[in-house]
Amino acid sequence: MCGIVGHLGPQNSVETVLEGLKRLEYRGYDSAGVSFVDEHNELCVFKKSGKLENLKRILEGKNLVARSCIGHTRWATHGEVNDTNSHPHSNDKIAMVHNGIIENATTLKRELIEKGIKFHSETDSEVFLALLSDQVSQDVPFKQAIINSFHRITGNSAFVILNSETSEIYAIKRGAPLVCGINETSSEGLVSSDPYALAGMVHKLYFPEDDVLCHLSAANKNLLNFYELDGTKTRRYMSKTPDISATASDKGDYDHFMLKEIHEQPELIRSLTQYYFAGEGESALQDVANLRPERVHISACGTAFYAGLMIKDFLEQYNQIPTVAEIASEFRYKNPLIKSGEMGLFVSQSGETADTLAAQELCTEKGLDTISIVNVEGSTLYRNCNHNLIIRAGVEIGVASTKAFTQQVLTGRLLSYALSGDLNNPERRVALASQFNLLAERVDYLLAQEEKIKAIAKEIYERKGYFYTGRGMYFPIALEGALKLKEIAYVHAEGYASGELKHGPIALIDSEMVNVAIVGPELYDKTVSNIQEIRARKGIILTIGPKGDTDLEEISDFYISLDFSDLGDLGPLYVNVVNQMLAYYIALYKGTDIDKPRNLAKSVTVE
Ligand code: AGP
Repeated sequence: MCGIVGHLGPQNSVETVLEGLKRLEYRGYDSAGVSFVDEHNELCVFKKSGKLENLKRILEGKNLVARSCIGHTRWATHGEVNDTNSHPHSNDKIAMVHNGIIENATTLKRELIEKGIKFHSETDSEVFLALLSDQVSQDVPFKQAIINSFHRITGNSAFVILNSETSEIYAIKRGAPLVCGINETSSEGLVSSDPYALAGMVHKLYFPEDDVLCHLSAANKNLLNFYELDGTKTRRYMSKTPDISATASDKGDYDHFMLKEIHEQPELIRSLTQYYFAGEGESALQDVANLRPERVHISACGTAFYAGLMIKDFLEQYNQIPTVAEIASEFRYKNPLIKSGEMGLFVSQSGETADTLAAQELCTEKGLDTISIVNVEGSTLYRNCNHNLIIRAGVEIGVASTKAFTQQVLTGRLLSYALSGDLNNPERRVALASQFNLLAERVDYLLAQEEKIKAIAKEIYERKGYFYTGRGMYFPIALEGALKLKEIAYVHAEGYASGELKHGPIALIDSEMVNVAIVGPELYDKTVSNIQEIRARKGIILTIGPKGDTDLEEISDFYISLDFSDLGDLGPLYVNVVNQMLAYYIALYKGTDIDKPRNLAKSVTVE
């Protein structure tokens, strides 16, 4: 969602903030802005709807010397996309940026308007500025004014505030991502909504907990201080040496990050295997091996939820643990039947998805043990869970999640392995590691056949709609395949259990509809009958099925043959790579913005 960057230090602050905002472009946004204190101690604000380039254009030729600056990329929630609603919001002394939603904004705005305060934008964010300005006008000291204003708002938010009188930056959050960083050599302090924006710029990262006020000031011995809301200094933050490289934002020889990330999968599978079977990940598996949950509740959103569906199958099949998988936005509000002795399992790439965080919080409140399967170490989800298994997917820039899904499912398989008590069984260990390595090998082989998938995409990209069908463990793959296509190609696609199509959706089948039929080993004959039903209604059949199956090939318009019989329960991940490439090439032929599809944000930090 919204991206935040703030910088204080002797280097040119505006350039640093613009560089940080550029790195956050991948998260999706619709406007950008910066505010800084110039050499005449004037507060300057520049903001523009549209791409960051639009903002840079209005900054061209201006003297941008500043030693503190805050910046923002907006993903609109309240008020349309225009220059006025863009952040920063400011008065003559204060500028602020916001990520999140102020839930009681309407009530507070009414109260402030009655006091004679004027609003310029339609945003909820400006309410915080109004509260703060009101406090400052009553001579409340700045730090206290922020605390008092923060007390008044409800909902999940992060704010970064620039005080032009002192050039100091303050940041505070509740339920939204925030990270600070320090470069001791160059005496620079930074703050952001995403550690990736700070990569290569700082030596140390600090992740404040909720309700901790961060204060960046040249007057502070170490530039950065943290305060509780009662004004006392605090150490309620997690510190960490940064491990993300700034070069992750390089597309290399690929046209899109999504394609690059699809191609990274074989190496990432190998590195995950090494980490958990012969590296530092072993202790993380030991940590979860002794858990004996009566029941597991999996909660996640989007692609991560589909990974959760596969993990549910692992836990039920191999561990005989009753497992419920629920979309986080539903789970959190349904008063779920959960109790201590059970376990909450949360799957997320970013570790900052608002609904998933809320589901985790609910489980903690009810006394459940919580585990994350997460990519970003140090993220809120990572910090809030009792146990963590990291998926080691590296930075994922493409909004469409690809490599994270593969790594999430594999990490889920490792969780199931750890819970089975087999960690010290050398045979099981070698067998599972070999299965992981075999998957990497097969994906390598598949990626070398990209041209074939591209050619099929060219034949079908103008069709009206797409049904992805599969059974058993291939059903979540059908759901994930359809989601991928929808989000990047902007076409209607649905994932269905193969046997379910005739209970309604088959009414939509005609010669303009494509059925991407995934035929795994489970219920083979039944799945083939389902394909015949579509074929009888003139649907276009693209089958992803076993190698050497000429009968199946004959009844299909297009056939992608895969050698997945020996991959066992990892076969679905192999098939999924076909779906990723198919979605990519259909989107390419359609000419959409593949890495930053319209209306989407990489990390959904609001409900
Ligand atoms: C995936 O392609 C999507 N962009 C989206 O469904 C995503 O998986 C979902 O928002 C969850 O994000 P998370 O993994 O960061 O929690």
